[in-house]
Amino acid sequence: MRHFLTLKDYTKEEILEIIDLGLTIKKELKSGERKPYLSNKTLAMIFEKSSTRTRVSFEAGMFQLGGHGLFLSNRDIHLGRGEPVKDTARVISSMCDMVMIRTFAHSMLEEFAEYSQVPVINGLTDSYHPVQLLADYMTMVENNKSDNIVAAYIGDGNNMTHSWMMLAAKLGFELRIATPHAYEVDADVRAEAEAIAKESGAKLIFTNSPHEAVAGATVVTTDTWASMGQEDEKEERITAFGGFIVDEALMAEADSNAIFLHCLPAYRGQEVSEGVLEGTQSVVFEEAENRLHAQKGLMVWLDQQR
Ligand code: CP
Ligand code: NVA
Repeated sequence: MRHFLTLKDYTKEEILEIIDLGLTIKKELKSGERKPYLSNKTLAMIFEKSSTRTRVSFEAGMFQLGGHGLFLSNRDIHLGRGEPVKDTARVISSMCDMVMIRTFAHSMLEEFAEYSQVPVINGLTDSYHPVQLLADYMTMVENNKSDNIVAAYIGDGNNMTHSWMMLAAKLGFELRIATPHAYEVDADVRAEAEAIAKESGAKLIFTNSPHEAVAGATVVTTDTWASMGQEDEKEERITAFGGFIVDEALMAEADSNAIFLHCLPAYRGQEVSEGVLEGTQSVVFEEAENRLHAQKGLMVWLDQQR
């Protein structure tokens, strides 16, 4: 049995297998075929943070696969009132076939997985958002941007950045990360990603210059400056991130055929301009839709490993 907590635990071949499976199931869906790969199976979805895409894609995805998604907010279950994670894990995993969790500390997810009898999927923690990267990579494949990748991430060194680092390190591509001073990526995650990159031949470049990162890039991406849980820091972050907006001028420094990705939700006028988000290079709504398809691939793949 496998969990899906970070891309760190997955080989390049496995990541590509999951994407391929997702693309196959997407093709079937688009031609009107909904095969019941997960007939009568139940996915418990625990949300300790808000969500639009993750909730809808997992719940709709599970239904399309012939199964059922169970939405559990921490306002409704005893986890939110202090029932221990290890007790919750043993109870829920004795009744359901898979669990998806969106939470704060990554260690909560790891503890849940340790006590779970069924596969646990990371639906976002403070440290990583790996399911988003499956959708991002699927979108790159579909837009012919999966060869000779030079990706530029502009903005906060956060859960999205860490997941981009792991994807680049595993698949062996060039990733340039531009963050303001004091908003750099986590040092331990960087060391881990650099060790993996050494083996795969990936190039991880860290800079404080968005211009250096974006020069000639084939994929440009960013994320909110204030992640969920950082609401109190919003004002100081807006000041610190001045100059880190992906606008038309910065985008013009990338490869002329570059695509723009954003996990969403986006804050227009902060990390991205209206013009770039709504522009011809932006594939953010294909990317959002691919959350559905990539995660269906993931759930079927995890089920096949049991
Ligand atoms: N990108 C993403 O995970 O979106 P939600 O927060 O809406 O799930
Ligand atoms: N970094 C963002 C991603 C949202 C999908 C957050 O954690 O809020």
